Amino acid sequence: MALRRTLLVLLAGCLGCLASSAKEYSDAEKQQLRQLYKDKCSPCHGVDGKGQTPAGKLLKARNHTDAEWQKSVSDEQLVHSITHGKDKMPKWGDKLSEEQIRGLVEVVIRSLAASK
Ligand code: HEC
Repeated sequence: MALRRTLLVLLAGCLGCLASSAKEYSDAEKQQLRQLYKDKCSPCHGVDGKGQTPAGKLLKARNHTDAEWQKSVSDEQLVHSITHGKDKMPKWGDKLSEEQIRGLVEVVIRSLAASK
């Protein structure tokens, strides 16, 4: 019985650690990330994320508001594409920090599908 209790305590502790691994963003951080998207990403993806700018249309930039696409890709995949680039999408790994890239995915890109 003592063993079962120990296991339960371990399990509960582990769930706690999983939940806390997702970063909480302050309003100021969210604001900064949205500004970063406007500065660096909107020339191709558009401020609204739809990719309907002249450069976006030319290069066929991904429409970030496409809910089906959003469901089909993991955060890790997106972080990877942004860091290393993908086809005509430039790589950002040498210009932005990993934290900024992760923030762009979690805060900006993921909120674009919901706003459609
Ligand atoms: C020069 C134009 C351009 C700029 C600037 C640009 N992108 Fe892209 N992006 C593209 C193109 C083109 C694609 C489509 C690549 C493909 O799917 O083959 C794309 C695709 C993506 C994808 C989808 C990748 C995938 O795995 O499906 C993400 C996420 C993305 N861009 C994020 C960003 C972010 C974040 C920024 C700003 C830091 C940014 N892009 C800036 C052109 C651009």
